[in-house]
Amino acid sequence: MDMKAYLDNAATTPLDPEVIDAITDCMSNIYGNPSATHSAGRNARGVIESSRVSISKLINAKPKEIIFTSGGTEGDNIAIRCAVKDLGVKHIITSPTEHKAVLETAKELAKEGLCEVHLVEVDELGRPELTSVADLAAAYPGSLISLMHANNEIGTKIDLEVIGNLAKEFGCYFHSDTVQTLGHYPIDTKAIKADFLTCSAHKLNGPKGIGFLYVNEGLKISSLFTGGGQERNIRAGTENVSGIVGLAKSMEIAQENMAEEEERIQDLKSYFIEQITETIPEIAFNGDLSPSGSLYTVLNVSVPPTGFNNLLLFKLDMEGVYCSGGSACNSGAAKGSHVLEAIGHPSDRQGIRFSFGRFTKKDDVDFAIDKLAMILKEDGATSRVY
Ligand SMILES: Cc1ncc(COP(=O)(O)O)c(C=O)c1O
Repeated sequence: MDMKAYLDNAATTPLDPEVIDAITDCMSNIYGNPSATHSAGRNARGVIESSRVSISKLINAKPKEIIFTSGGTEGDNIAIRCAVKDLGVKHIITSPTEHKAVLETAKELAKEGLCEVHLVEVDELGRPELTSVADLAAAYPGSLISLMHANNEIGTKIDLEVIGNLAKEFGCYFHSDTVQTLGHYPIDTKAIKADFLTCSAHKLNGPKGIGFLYVNEGLKISSLFTGGGQERNIRAGTENVSGIVGLAKSMEIAQENMAEEEERIQDLKSYFIEQITETIPEIAFNGDLSPSGSLYTVLNVSVPPTGFNNLLLFKLDMEGVYCSGGSACNSGAAKGSHVLEAIGHPSDRQGIRFSFGRFTKKDDVDFAIDKLAMILKEDGATSRVY
């Protein structure tokens, strides 16, 4: 069989076989509506509540602070929209490199005249300037600060504790999109003084269409949808029971293997950087490369100009290398990446995101670099003979 290298784990991850087993077992045996009072319903309720307890322990939260959602986009929307709708937030402080689920939601609310959006300055690695965050928080106390833990396109990471402290100093609410980091790093909701955190199961070898929003117990918010009182009146609609079971299982597995996986995948990323630099010297990198300042699962490379920039991903795909240009959510669209634009990436170069996960091996890295080098050589885009 032809080799394929799946290096798009920041877009989504393959399901862990143990997660598949947990989901299928639940689908086969638990069929009641969790809101029903008979025992089939109570069984489903029991499964949801034990998943909630298990997840809450992993992030030092209370079970009632875990609100199940359909994933990251919904979690970000609930946090931001409810902060404006229910908490009296009139100013949102965020960055130009956030995921569109945050940026477009905030901008939409501003367009409706419900709040103002203030974008912090970011440095050339895509990291929000702390002085800029502090200046805006001081100017707009009581605002919502929404800054992602690690950028999904370039991997640059921020210190959540520093931002959480700063938010509290100025009486601001603090939301972080932790979609790329929950399950990859230990996160303690109390240590970082979070009000909202967003999680999506499919980024950590769990199923698509399920996630949770951490909502600090002190916040009184209500559902964006009407017609159901589920999830403490914060998310109306019958729960995705088997998805919740899969989410909890994927979080548990991620937690058990977190330290070893961080080390193993960081080694793979470092190896990728070393090998690609040696093989294609014209390659540059976007975002922070340091292990402490960067997500170990993401590497964004800047490819020298070719005669077929728009076709590079397609050519890699034809060779069996699966990766992304910009964020996955944009990969079907012709538009460039707002993140690369914000960090001043030259528009004649192509940014390619390679992202690693639990099933990535050294062979995948070697294969991808070989294929990229071959494609660039055919184009004459590089000076080296490979
Ligand atoms: C940082 C970030 N936030 C939010 C999302 C959206 O998550 P979901 O696909 O679960 O809606 C993604 C997915 O690409 C992401 O990377």
